[in-house]
Amino acid sequence: MEKDKAIGIFDSGLGGLSVLRKLKQELPGEDFIFYGDQKHAPYGEKSEEEVRSLSLSAYRFLQEKGVKATVIACNTATSAAAPYLRELFPEDIIIGMEPAVKPAVEALQDESKSDKTKKKILIMATEHTIQGERLHQLISRFGDPSQFLLLPSPGIVRLLEAGKGDSPEMEDYLHQLLLPYQKEAISSIVLGCTHFPFVKEQIQKALPYPVQFFDGAEGTAKETRHRLEERGLLKEEMQKGQVELFSSNEDSSLMEAFYRKNCLPKSR
Ligand code: DGL
Repeated sequence: MEKDKAIGIFDSGLGGLSVLRKLKQELPGEDFIFYGDQKHAPYGEKSEEEVRSLSLSAYRFLQEKGVKATVIACNTATSAAAPYLRELFPEDIIIGMEPAVKPAVEALQDESKSDKTKKKILIMATEHTIQGERLHQLISRFGDPSQFLLLPSPGIVRLLEAGKGDSPEMEDYLHQLLLPYQKEAISSIVLGCTHFPFVKEQIQKALPYPVQFFDGAEGTAKETRHRLEERGLLKEEMQKGQVELFSSNEDSSLMEAFYRKNCLPKSR
């Protein structure tokens, strides 16, 4: 039965696991097939055409596995390829990622009722997402462009994909990257790349004041539930779902270890 099929998820690599983690919480009975195109990461430094063509290959890989819906767990691939994939496969359920601009603006509005200092929202994302039209449309739809600071942060993806998420190099990189914001009143940070939630604590550590973080994973998980419900495709059986992981790298051990560390309940 169509309902019993898995949900496909893809990203350029490990970042999509931050979305899988939320999807598992939102839809615990569903099965998931995750594809991380680690061989071609980072997508954020590639051209629009390249990201589109890599996204199509990832999509086909999941289609061949027989998924009932696909989540593009990558802001860069959503911005470059979601409209293209939806045009090619109009009958399919294709869910994209959206940088969490709206919740960040709403939280800032609440905050500024009590605190009148002008605070800003910092958006961290790949170069590709920062340059893309989609982000700028979101910004003007929900906020005032002068409220935002945009910061391409390519080193995070590179270091994470090299297995250096918890390294002094990551600490140094974030420290340098965030130096210009040591005195600026930033109230919140939008993590506009799915890799970034894995270094949230290190980002906070690189700033001398507390910030609120927003990412698109929860909204994407809720949207996935909604889209499946709408088509009557939610799995009825309430047994815990299965997860299968695939990497385009020959060696998928980094991805597996990352999954165990970040997406499974901590063993005591
Ligand atoms: N995780 C991806 C995103 O959300 C892409 C990172 C990359 O490959 O550059 O944008």
